[in-house]
Amino acid sequence: MALRPLVVIPDSILREPSKPLERVDEDVRALAKDMLETMYDAPGIGLAAIQVAEPVRMLTIDLSREGEERDPHVFINPEIVARGDDFSTYEEGCLSIPDYYAEVERPASVTVNYIDLEGRQQTMEADGLMATCLQHEIDHLNGVLFIDHISRLKREMVVKKFKKLAKERGGTRLAI
Ligand code: NI
Repeated sequence: MALRPLVVIPDSILREPSKPLERVDEDVRALAKDMLETMYDAPGIGLAAIQVAEPVRMLTIDLSREGEERDPHVFINPEIVARGDDFSTYEEGCLSIPDYYAEVERPASVTVNYIDLEGRQQTMEADGLMATCLQHEIDHLNGVLFIDHISRLKREMVVKKFKKLAKERGGTRLAI
C-alpha cells in the first residue's frame, strides 16, 4: 500500500469525468487500498479516485468515528438510481479544497447501485451522512465539486484563493 498525493483545486483534472471500470482486478484492488490509506491519512471520510489523479469511477468511504473500529466501503461504478423527496443540509468539506467548509443541501436519502471489490453487483439505500457523502463523491466522478452547490460569489472567492496559492507555488494545470 502507498499514500498517493492528493489533487487540489484549481487542478483541472478535477473537472474531468471519470471512466467506468470494466473489471475488478488486482490493479483496481491495489488502487482501492491506496485510496483508503490516503483517505485515513488525510484524514477524510470519503475519497474519489480522481482526487489521486486516477480518472476511474471508484470511491472509498468510511464514516466511523475516531476510536471506533474502521468501516471501509469501496464503491465501483456507483450510480444513483433513486433519490428521496426530503432534503438535508450538511457542512461539507473536501480533501481537494483543504480547510474550506460550506453548507450544502442535498436529497436526504439515495439508492446507489455499485460493484464491490469482489466484482459483485450491490445496492445500498443510504440516508444521513452516508447519503450526503455518496452524492458528494459521485459528483467528483462527474467533474462536479461541492462548491458548485454554493453561491457563485462564495465559489468565486474560494477558487480565487486557491488559484493564488497555486500561482505562488508554481502550480500547473490552472483552470477550473
Ligand atoms: Ni470531495
